[in-house]
Amino acid sequence: MKRAGILGIGHYVPERVVTNHDLEEILDTSHDWIVSRTGIKERRIAADDMNTSDLASRAALAAIEHAGIGVDEIDLIIVATSTPDYHVFPSVACLVQEKIKARTVGAMDVSAACSGFVYAMILAKQFIETGANQRVLVVGAEKMSKKLNWKDRNTAVLFGDGAGAVVMGPVSSDRGILSFDMGADGSGANQLVIQDYLEMNGREVYKFAVRQMPQTIMNVMDKAGFSIEDIDFLIPHQANTRIIDNAREKLGIPADKISITVDKYGNTSGATIPLSLAEEVNLGKIKDGDLLVLVGFGGGLTWGSIALRWGT
Ligand code: ACO
Repeated sequence: MKRAGILGIGHYVPERVVTNHDLEEILDTSHDWIVSRTGIKERRIAADDMNTSDLASRAALAAIEHAGIGVDEIDLIIVATSTPDYHVFPSVACLVQEKIKARTVGAMDVSAACSGFVYAMILAKQFIETGANQRVLVVGAEKMSKKLNWKDRNTAVLFGDGAGAVVMGPVSSDRGILSFDMGADGSGANQLVIQDYLEMNGREVYKFAVRQMPQTIMNVMDKAGFSIEDIDFLIPHQANTRIIDNAREKLGIPADKISITVDKYGNTSGATIPLSLAEEVNLGKIKDGDLLVLVGFGGGLTWGSIALRWGT
């Protein structure tokens, strides 16, 4: 059987850099507090005239170019986002389809907060491995800045805007997605909510994250038939370096095998995983045959992980 894998990857971040020192001007906070509690030094904030679908479209076109295919070959579009252009519909995926001039193929959004991109890749895998689709565009894109209460120091300092995308399709049987793990616990739904603005019980979400992230990594490696030592590169959701450090220590994964981009981009929710993966690929840190684990966790509460053999 052909496995589903990644054929190309791209990302886009807005030009405007907002540093912690910039935030000191508008909030009762400090660079030192933000760095020591989260690892975040700066984030990107999109211009007023740039919405989530604009970020998503730029990342999508970069991924399509990297895959070396034409836009007209895309036969399904899935966008993971919690910050759609419109409240309910149309989906960001439909807006992306028009903006990149893709064919009139199926297009839909996935709502699973910071786990959204992993959920969307798992969804794409099913369409590819059943033979229904050959070239699936999967995007994680967020304009978090429009859903932040800029007077709330508990949340405003944590997030940023950005997008990442992959083109997925069939790859050879020794590459691609080896296993996945996903779950949700709606009893924690009220810990992390966006109605008008994002509200979070930081301590409870932190406790959930340090418990669930190592667990889903262990589950996905177990399902793939490998052990933690076999991981060549871990691409974790970028919420907080303390959460990532905690998992690193629990699982004994060397720091140089873990992607960290939260320092530059903050938490871009559904975009952190493709954004980080794209950066590591661009830096040449990921080689053909490497065993990667992508892991997300967040609102819902949700979590998900993928073990992936890089290459086609
Ligand atoms: N600047 C200065 N002080 C602050 C700031 C700030 N920006 N924010 C909060 N504080 C204060 C608090 O008011 C509190 O003061 P108090 O003790 O006088 O009440 C103190 O700092 C400590 O607050 P804590 O909440 O205990 O800080 P903590 O060490 O837990 O860090 C944080 C807070 C960073 C939010 C952490 O809890 C966290 O990372 N939580 C998880 C977030 C996460 O992982 N989200 C992922 C999912 S995101 C998604 O799905 C969209």
